[in-house]
Amino acid sequence: MKHPKTVWVTGASSGLGLHTAQQLGKAGWTVIAGARSFRELETRDGIIRLPLDVTDEESVRAFCDRALEISPWVTAVVQCAGVLVLGSCEETSMEEYRRVMETNFLGMVRMNRQVLPVMRAQGEGRIVLFSSINGLMGIPFQNAYTASKHAIEGYAEGLQMETRPFGIQVTLIEPGDHRSGSDRYRGHAAGMGPDSPYAAAYGSATARIHHDETHGSDPDVLGRKVARLLEKRRMPFRKRIASPDQHLAVYLHKFLPARWNEAILRSYYVRREKKSGGKIGAGRGRER
Ligand SMILES: NC(=O)c1ccc[n+]([C@@H]2O[C@H](COP(=O)([O-])OP(=O)(O)OC[C@H]3O[C@@H](n4cnc5c(N)ncnc54)[C@H](OP(=O)(O)O)[C@@H]3O)[C@@H](O)[C@H]2O)c1
Repeated sequence: MKHPKTVWVTGASSGLGLHTAQQLGKAGWTVIAGARSFRELETRDGIIRLPLDVTDEESVRAFCDRALEISPWVTAVVQCAGVLVLGSCEETSMEEYRRVMETNFLGMVRMNRQVLPVMRAQGEGRIVLFSSINGLMGIPFQNAYTASKHAIEGYAEGLQMETRPFGIQVTLIEPGDHRSGSDRYRGHAAGMGPDSPYAAAYGSATARIHHDETHGSDPDVLGRKVARLLEKRRMPFRKRIASPDQHLAVYLHKFLPARWNEAILRSYYVRREKKSGGKIGAGRGRER
């Protein structure tokens, strides 16, 4: 029997999640989208919206139950929910580290724990996890975020090995910088102030990060690529969606000695560092 193409998309109120949900809708999928800012069940622009907080077990369970009432078959789950807190390793608080890990990594774990039994019973299903090129290499002042994305990368490898026999396919999406227009989510670690010993380097790095994102790739193109990926009979395990220079950076990171990588990335992000250099907030931080 042919089942309807139903996809759940987390973090679909803005940015890459929203663009992906829209492109999937255009491609004929029944899209059930979740985010904290969706207060109640609402269908708008062909997308069914449900409240979802991936840090809250009960909210995740309620989302899955309601989504299954709407459509008892789930072809795919695309997990985009994420936050980014910029800050130095030293001055990012434990609460901020926890919030990032709870959302970006454990949020996926929570969702998968709910959806895996459903997909196993179906004998098929697709799980698409939004990582980042930061899941493959670290950069300064995105440490909690980078750690969460590295966690996703390792977790996904085991997840795929365990679930392939049940007909479940897992794909990691590794975006480079995209103009997701997510400025309202930007935030710095509360501990980052003008007296920080990292202030100059931080100002330089956040200005660079801000520049790269505002000049990043088109999020609609990413959404279309994800939609095309879901149509493939066999999805690749990793799909990097990034500019040529970001592809090159990941490639070099893999093969160059660590000290060379450090020098290249540090000079890229902290090249304007000097005593009177950048200042905190030159590029605004971001949660995503
Ligand atoms: N933009 C880029 O350049 C880029 C690059 C690499 C990777 N990525 C990844 O792509 C994904 C989307 O990033 P983005 O830049 O498009 O971010 P964004 O615009 O800030 O979107 C983040 C989304 O996550 C949702 N969200 C946050 N906390 C949540 C929670 N606890 N429960 C449910 N939803 C939650 C937000 O909605 P609510 O606030 O309404 O909950 C929002 O819809 C993230 O995983 C990010 O790491 C983005």
